[in-house]
Amino acid sequence: MENVIIMDHPLIKHKISMLRDVNTGTNEFRKLVEEIGILMGYEALRDLPTEDVEITTPLETCMTPMISGKKLAVIPVLRAGLGLVNSILTLVPSAKVGHIGLYRDPETHEPHEYYCKLPDSIGERIAIVVDPMLATGGSAVSAVDFVKEKGGKNIKFMCLIAAPEGLKKLHEAHPDVQIYVGNLDRELNSNAYICPGLGDAGDRIFGTK
Ligand code: PRP
Ligand code: URA
Repeated sequence: MENVIIMDHPLIKHKISMLRDVNTGTNEFRKLVEEIGILMGYEALRDLPTEDVEITTPLETCMTPMISGKKLAVIPVLRAGLGLVNSILTLVPSAKVGHIGLYRDPETHEPHEYYCKLPDSIGERIAIVVDPMLATGGSAVSAVDFVKEKGGKNIKFMCLIAAPEGLKKLHEAHPDVQIYVGNLDRELNSNAYICPGLGDAGDRIFGTK
């Protein structure tokens, strides 16, 4: 599928396996999410534009590339997406941070919005929407809808684990969005949880139940 990039790096695979383990506690889980986010972010930001600038080294002056354009926007889908914000900020400390608050109705699994605040001039920025889980795809489609409604044009979506159903739904709704997936899992269960998955990402990151 064009614009769908599924990771194949052994470090990402290994750390995702550790995330899945029911015995991985909150502290370790949070660290792993951040580490995987850095490894995936490195890949997702591979096409950031650069421009040559003049730099003086201890030896001479040269023209050398630096990231160009308006500052990147990282947009976590609350709550669990918050676990990936520092990953992107580690790579691009100057990035602006937007927030989209969505929760899934436990019965219908439909997403409900409760918050949306994005950086200004979003249309001139690369926007990377982050959420560890892409299950039915409802939350991701809504999140990207919001970014587009506010003018976003160059949008990426990054998740650690996707279900085939959610990946298809997001790609069909937003074929222009580059989707970065840590691992494509088998299926959704009857509660719309990803199997084998890792459980409830928000609860595992924040230690709630
Ligand atoms: C989780 C997850 C995604 C969403 C994925 O959030 O972080 O946002 O579910 O499911 P979907 O693809 O079927 O929409 P949740 O709604 O549980 O909220 P939380 O992060 O606040 O726990
Ligand atoms: N949200 C999660 O946190 N986990 C799932 O498996 C599905 C949705």
